[in-house]
Amino acid sequence: MSPAIEVTDLTKRYGDVRAVDGVSFSVEQGEVFAILGPNGAGKSTTVEILEGHRQRDGGAVSVLGIDPSKGGREYRDRVGIVLQSAGIDKELTVREVLDLYSRAYSKRLPIEQVLDAVELAEKADARVRTLSGGQQRRVDLALGLIGDPDLIFLDEPTTGFDPAARRRSWELVQNLTAGGKTVVLTTHYLEEAEQLADRVAVMSGGRIVAEGTPESLRANADRGTVIRFAFPAVDAPLSELIDPLVGDASGRDRRIEIVTPAPTADLAHVTTWALGHGVELQGLVVESMNLEDVYLGLVADDGGGAS
Ligand SMILES: Nc1ncnc2c1ncn2[C@@H]1O[C@H](COP(=O)(O)OP(=O)(O)OP(=O)(O)O)[C@@H](O)[C@H]1O
Ligand SMILES: [Mg+2]
Repeated sequence: MSPAIEVTDLTKRYGDVRAVDGVSFSVEQGEVFAILGPNGAGKSTTVEILEGHRQRDGGAVSVLGIDPSKGGREYRDRVGIVLQSAGIDKELTVREVLDLYSRAYSKRLPIEQVLDAVELAEKADARVRTLSGGQQRRVDLALGLIGDPDLIFLDEPTTGFDPAARRRSWELVQNLTAGGKTVVLTTHYLEEAEQLADRVAVMSGGRIVAEGTPESLRANADRGTVIRFAFPAVDAPLSELIDPLVGDASGRDRRIEIVTPAPTADLAHVTTWALGHGVELQGLVVESMNLEDVYLGLVADDGGGAS
């Protein structure tokens, strides 16, 4: 089975900003692929190039065997798209919007079925502008489903959802893939990526800085232990504390964070050092690294958003 998506060395610039800076990945049919990253990482730019909504500067893209920049109608008929901000006419009712959008597709699902799937049946005849932010987002989700696509792009599908609605929408996405659909989603939420995705690409500054199954990212995470404390007010150089460590130390706002494969030795050094100076280590904690730490570490290493 050929992959649903193949992206090779994709680039997109806006002036001096390398929004997408040499990104490669592939997504298998029936897979859920999550692109996780902070604001400005290049997630929407990447996804919108795959959707055919933006032109790339360089690289090769194949989606369902088609180059989306040349895809045209035949292509749009096979993909469902949930944009980060969709420009729908909010004076229309939910049912009217779905009916209008469904006309673009040759296959369409019954409107009632889609309304049920996104839990908006009782709002079918309400004007979109009267819905809450999370409910409006569910309309966007419905628009992505209405054409019964083989592949669905979801750009931050659950932003603005309350926690319960977020969980229910996860079930919805899981049902889609149980039906054999391929899903590409972007998210800021680690938990969402972990819950939904078969594979996760962590994006920062226009590049993929890590990629793998949630388990493999977690396994990487488990290799380290984090020791944190406030650097005490002592008349001693920082190097005296840091240099002998096995692990890597970093500091921010006088908080020291040591990520180490040798927590016993490093903790002994740190506490011995503190005792030697007669100071208490305020806020001392020792914990295993979680996926959040890995993600934040990767993004921090990269200097955050695109530059
Ligand atoms: N149309 C545009 N014109 C100029 N710069 C743009 C344009 N679209 C995106 N950019 C820049 O490209 C970079 C990536 O933006 P993008 O929207 O892809 O990020 P993102 O990962 O989707 O962020 P968010 O999580 O905030 O949605 C940013 O620095 C952004 O300012
Ligand atoms: Mg975005």
